Amino acid sequence: MDEKSNKLAVYPGSFDPLTNGHVDIIERGARLFDRIVVAILVNEEKCPLFAAAERKEIAVDVFGGFSNVEVETFDGLLVDYAARREADVIVRGLRAISDFEYEMQMALMNRRLNKMIETVFMMPDERYTYLSSRLVKEVYALGGTITGLVPEIVETRLASKIQRGG
Ligand code: PNS
Repeated sequence: MDEKSNKLAVYPGSFDPLTNGHVDIIERGARLFDRIVVAILVNEEKCPLFAAAERKEIAVDVFGGFSNVEVETFDGLLVDYAARREADVIVRGLRAISDFEYEMQMALMNRRLNKMIETVFMMPDERYTYLSSRLVKEVYALGGTITGLVPEIVETRLASKIQRGG
């Protein structure tokens, strides 16, 4: 049995941009685990709207007041990053059944790659079950309101990134 009492969780994702659904999962994770690292994938080849450094700045701004939440960027295999950090757990949010197949594939592949790291799924508040970073960007670009769906800093940063139509 693992006698380590200080449980470190890694919450990986693209966070392009951070939504209130992500924030909800991070807050839950920060209550459940001793420490949680928001691990932002550096996926510049996928042309994210926000560069990894900007995504990190946003998360640091939102979670600056949390003593047990850290924010980092990573690239390469998630399990390798988690092992370097000596993490016990990978946290992923499950919004709906439609997330399940992809998430199960990733969790089982990650387990095959490193059986010491357990994936834990957490459900966000039901207010956020339909929410995604992709929809936030699309709705914002087309002139819809995203207030209440993302942290204020995300709305401000989106304003400087996207010329709104609609
Ligand atoms: O928020 P996302 O975009 O759904 O997050 C996906 C993420 C970052 C968790 C996944 O793409 C990932 O872990 N990428 C790192 C590369 C890796 O380990 N790939 C194998 C996953 S089984």
